[in-house]
Amino acid sequence: MSIRYFAVWRKRAFIIPICTSDLESRHFDNFLGCGTPEGPRGVVGLEILGSVALLRSLAVAEETRGLGCGKALVAEAENYAKDKGARELYLLTTTAESFFARLGYSRVERKTAPDQIKHMNEFSALCPDRAAFMVKKL
Ligand SMILES: CC(C)(COP(=O)(O)OP(=O)(O)OC[C@H]1O[C@@H](n2cnc3c(N)ncnc32)[C@H](O)[C@@H]1OP(=O)(O)O)[C@@H](O)C(=O)NCCC(=O)NCCS
Repeated sequence: MSIRYFAVWRKRAFIIPICTSDLESRHFDNFLGCGTPEGPRGVVGLEILGSVALLRSLAVAEETRGLGCGKALVAEAENYAKDKGARELYLLTTTAESFFARLGYSRVERKTAPDQIKHMNEFSALCPDRAAFMVKKL
């Protein structure tokens, strides 16, 4: 299930500690949601950068957590990124390292990031240094 309801999501203003201040409307081309436009339950975003991609802005509404929405969004994002040609999916997280580890993501040093990712604002300026940098081969 991939439903695009970004404006609705933005109006609902999830209060979560993720890096979003660099997001512009073009980024929302690669956002996936679960739920419906009238009742969004969760979102995840992707930046596709050739053979690598960055997963970002994963968030599930508090009352829906623990029901599988987060894992389903990550699985959907992985399939989407793969279809677009990405072979490695990266992410930064300060809040959910063990969640992603259970889904097959490994923590790697930031200095090993591919150039496409290093040049992104989320990587270089927005997410704090203490954020775990993780990758999964698709
Ligand atoms: C992380 C998040 C997306 C998970 O969504 P969810 O719909 O609750 O996840 P699921 O129902 O698919 O999976 C639940 C499992 O993940 C675990 N989990 C949930 N949030 C977690 C977290 N922050 N860290 C570690 N494990 C977490 C639960 O304990 C549960 O474990 P179980 O399967 O053993 O019971 C959600 O908690 C959230 O929106 N958090 C706030 C935003 C955030 O931190 N986003 C990540 C930014 S990179």
